[in-house]
Amino acid sequence: MKIASVVGARPNFIKLAPVSKEFRKEFDEIIIHTGQHYDYEMDKVFFDELGIPEPDYHLGVGSGSHGYQTGEMLKRTEKVLIKEKPDMVLVFGDTNSTLAGALAAVKLHIKVAHVEAGLRSFDKKMPEEINSVLTDHCSDLLFCPTETAVKNLKNEGITKGVYLTGDVMVDALQENIKIAEKKSRILDELDLKPEEYYLATAHRAENTDDFSRLKSIVDAFCEIENIVFPCHPRTEKMFKKFNLWDRLQKRVKVIKPVGYFDMLVLEKNARKILTDSGGVQKEAYIFKVPCITLRENGQLNFMVLQKRFLKETEESFWEWKGER
Ligand code: UD1
Ligand code: UDP
Repeated sequence: MKIASVVGARPNFIKLAPVSKEFRKEFDEIIIHTGQHYDYEMDKVFFDELGIPEPDYHLGVGSGSHGYQTGEMLKRTEKVLIKEKPDMVLVFGDTNSTLAGALAAVKLHIKVAHVEAGLRSFDKKMPEEINSVLTDHCSDLLFCPTETAVKNLKNEGITKGVYLTGDVMVDALQENIKIAEKKSRILDELDLKPEEYYLATAHRAENTDDFSRLKSIVDAFCEIENIVFPCHPRTEKMFKKFNLWDRLQKRVKVIKPVGYFDMLVLEKNARKILTDSGGVQKEAYIFKVPCITLRENGQLNFMVLQKRFLKETEESFWEWKGER
C-alpha cells in the first residue's frame, strides 16, 4: 500500500514523526510538504531533530491569505497525487495544509485518513475549526485522540471509520523528552532555573491580529517577572506593526521560535505556561505544568490575566498537580 502524507506547518511535522516511523515499517510512504511554514526554526529543525525523512515533494506555497494559500496547496497537491496515485492520503491536525491535502485527495477519489480527527472548539471564526470539520467530513479513516473527539464526530453523524487511537503528540513527547533533556542547553543559554520562570507562546489570529487583544497580552506579560517567550513570526510581525515590540522586549525575554527539544525542556521546567497553542496546552498537561489558556474558549478571558490571578491559579493548581 502506498501512502502520501501531506504536511506543511510546525504542528503537522511533530504529528507526522511518530506516525511516519510506524507506517514505514509496513507501507510505502511519500511526504508532500506544502511549504506553509518555511523558516528554518518553523520547519527544517523538526525534520532534523525528529528524524523525519526529507519530503519527496516540496510545493513551496509559502504565506498568503487563506484562499490563496489553501487554493495553491490544493492545485499543487492534486498534481502530485495524479502522478503518484497513492492508495491513501494522510493528513494531520487542523491547518490549511490539512484541509488542502484532504480536499485534493477526496476529489480524486483517493481515501483520506485524518490524524487528530474530531477536535472541536465550536468557534467557526477560528480557521482551525473550519479546517478540522471539513477534513473530517472528507475522511474515510478518522483517528481520534480522545473519547470527546469520537463523541463530537458522532454528533455530526460520522461513525464509520472512526478509531480511538490516543494522541500522537503524546507518542512524540514520550519518544523525545529523554533525548531532549540530554541534548538541550536552553536553560543555561537563557540563564533559567527550573520552576523559576514562566513560558509563553501566542500565535492565534484572533489574538495577534487585533490591536486591543494583542496589547492586553503585552500588558499582562509585562507584569510578570521572568517570562520567556519563543515568538512565532506572525506574532513578531504584528507586535512590530502595532508598535508593541519595544515595550515587550524591555520586560520579556522574547526569543526566536525554538526547536522541539528546547521547547520540551522549556515546558517541562516552567513554573507555569501561558499559551494559545493547542499543542503547547496539551504538553503542559502531560508535564503537569499549570497552564493558562489565552483564548476566549479556553479557561478564562485573558483580559483578566494579572499577577493576582497568576498567584491564585498557582495555588489551586498545586493540589491537582500532585508530585511531578
Ligand atoms: C498555522 C495554522 C495554525 C497553527 C500554526 C502553527 C492555519 C490556518 N493556521 O498558523 O492552526 O496553530 O500554523 O504554528 O493553517 N511566517 C513566517 N515564516 C514561516 C511561517 C509563517 O514568517 O515559516 C509568517 C508569515 O508572515 C505568515 C504568518 O507567519 O503570513 C502566518 O503563517 P500561516 O502559516 O499563514 O499561519 P500560522 O499563524 O502559522
Ligand atoms: N513548539 C516548538 N517550538 C516553539 C513553539 C512550539 O517546538 O517555539 C512545538 C510545541 O512543543 C508543540 C507544537 O510546536 O509540539 C505546537 O505547535 P504550534 O503552537 O505552532 O501550533 P498548534 O498546536 O497551536 O496548532
